[in-house]
Amino acid sequence: MAQKTSYDIAVLGGDGTGPEVVREGIKVLKAVADKFNFSLNFSDFDFGGDRYLRTGEVLPNNASDELRKFDAIFLGAIGHPDVQPGILEKGILLRLRFELDQYINLRPVKLYPGVETPIKDKGPEDIDFVVIRENTQDAYCGMGGAMHVGTPQEVATQTAVYTRFGVDRALKYAFEYTRKRNKRKQLTLCGKTNVLTYIYGLWERAFHEMGDRDYADIKREYTHVDATTMWFVKNPEWFDVIVTGNLFGDIITDLGAMIQGGMGIAAGGNINPDPGGVSMFEPIGGSAPKYTGKNVINPLAAIGAAQLMLETLGQDEAAKAIENAIMEVTANKLKSLAAGRMGFTTSEVGDMVASLAV
Ligand code: IPM
Ligand code: MN
Repeated sequence: MAQKTSYDIAVLGGDGTGPEVVREGIKVLKAVADKFNFSLNFSDFDFGGDRYLRTGEVLPNNASDELRKFDAIFLGAIGHPDVQPGILEKGILLRLRFELDQYINLRPVKLYPGVETPIKDKGPEDIDFVVIRENTQDAYCGMGGAMHVGTPQEVATQTAVYTRFGVDRALKYAFEYTRKRNKRKQLTLCGKTNVLTYIYGLWERAFHEMGDRDYADIKREYTHVDATTMWFVKNPEWFDVIVTGNLFGDIITDLGAMIQGGMGIAAGGNINPDPGGVSMFEPIGGSAPKYTGKNVINPLAAIGAAQLMLETLGQDEAAKAIENAIMEVTANKLKSLAAGRMGFTTSEVGDMVASLAV
């Protein structure tokens, strides 16, 4: 198939500092598109807390159908101080992940040069792995309920559900990704086979069956999730690609973000790898409302999300150019990744990355 040269991108700036960081991502995307001879058309959507407070509607019913018409979605952040926790997260982010069947959450954990990690004696050569988190099942599927709420007899259940189909498609993506990454060709399943015997028993059998059958070139490892958090801190260099369930993936990727320098740098993709699937890319930090409009927030995570978007769209060279520019900025320009302490404004950081990428 010939490489596409024009892409329609839906932009969901979202809440708080989301629109500010997305603006810098778009700046960088436009710069590399010119240089690498493709074009991008951006369309804005106002989904988020402000719209909800104004209209009472979290997400219009036709949102997924509208978004399906795009080649990719660029999301800023969801989360508003005046909206009760859960409403926007479930009503926008999780709903889009489910309705667009973005069954992979891709989270690279890479320590860039010049970035401070809280882990003593570890450097960029030690922290460079990718977490592939299943993104549509597990405790996130919304099965469960409660009764006698607010009384001493309150009962609550929330069931983690996995299907063989859902596990297999996540594993297939993970094996293929590990092969394409071509680094150490090692895929680690992170689970809890000693307690969640049904769920991670299923994952483990499916993992080895698929590995034996189709991926003899990929080395397989297994770690329990609790031990994984230990190894992230003690020996992050042991990892190449990790595949795990939705909830464990949620938890370990926040730890991953911290060891790569924090929320200012961590990016993720909600990916539907199927033909015609629409994927959504986001900085994984929150909306940081207290910094809204101050031009002090770090846009590198959003720029990293833009890089992941181009990689997924098959514009590898342009993606690489963005990553190299990010590394140049972390190595030689920024004083810190923290909001207000970078030594530059949000838009100056975007300008620097955009000019270094071309
Ligand atoms: C994430 C977030 C979401 C999740 C929340 C906001 C629903 O923490 O993308 O990691 O739990 O998946
Ligand atoms: Mn999370």
